Amino acid sequence: MKMILIGPPGAGKGTQAKRLMERLGIPQISTGDMFRAAVAGGTPMGLKAKEYMDKGELIPDDVVIGVVKERLSSPDCNKGFILDGFPRTLDQAKALDRILENMESHLDHVVVIDVPDDYLIERLTGRRTCRKCGYMHHIKFDTPKKDGICDKCGGELYQRDDDKEQTIRERLKTYHSQTAPLVAYYTDKGIVRKIDGKGSMEEVEGTIATAVGA
Ligand code: AP5
Ligand code: MG
Repeated sequence: MKMILIGPPGAGKGTQAKRLMERLGIPQISTGDMFRAAVAGGTPMGLKAKEYMDKGELIPDDVVIGVVKERLSSPDCNKGFILDGFPRTLDQAKALDRILENMESHLDHVVVIDVPDDYLIERLTGRRTCRKCGYMHHIKFDTPKKDGICDKCGGELYQRDDDKEQTIRERLKTYHSQTAPLVAYYTDKGIVRKIDGKGSMEEVEGTIATAVGA
């Protein structure tokens, strides 16, 4: 199954992608995670990407498309994938269409996770991510048993640099102006599944699983 998760920052794309990955046995491809790894590794691409990420702006299309194209050519993507945070612009969506055409493949589902903006600030300011395994805890909605320590692997939990309230507001603006228009693009193709993302993580997982037949 080849699918995309679209939604504003904090909608639960990463949370649900990890759950779907376990359910379906296909990889999660998160461009945000890939660029954060490049930042942590201090690579030239990481240093450039950080400038955009810290401002809540999008990294230029040509850079992002190149990274995704390479990732999708890995053998583990043959059976399918869950794209989390890509595409985010119309040019990225068109580039993905071309990549899949060359693979003689196509998208099965575009899941749009709908959550009102006022929920998102609380979700993002309370998020604590594991440095080791990438699991996302939340100080209120998914409280770690031991403060600052990941329940899954015992790794250290940290707060993302772009989860400051001012940067979150910029990311929301960027989402509404540049990414939300993609919903119309995919609606025209008849593959959009709109999901109410306000419920609990389990409720949202169930709704998505039913929508995509997982
Ligand atoms: P990215 O990492 O993709 O960030 P984002 O889109 O802003 O989304 P988040 O990861 O913040 O939220 P999420 O929807 O994954 O929510 P999560 O599941 O963690 O991108 C970061 C930056 O990289 C961008 O700003 C840009 O600069 C750059 N970039 C990345 N991709 C790019 C691209 N394609 N083009 C250009 N630039 C790109 O959940 C959030 C919290 O809420 C967690 O703590 C979780 O535990 C909790 N939670 C989740 N679901 C629920 C629920 N149902 N109820 C209660 N709490 C919940
Ligand atoms: Mg995410």
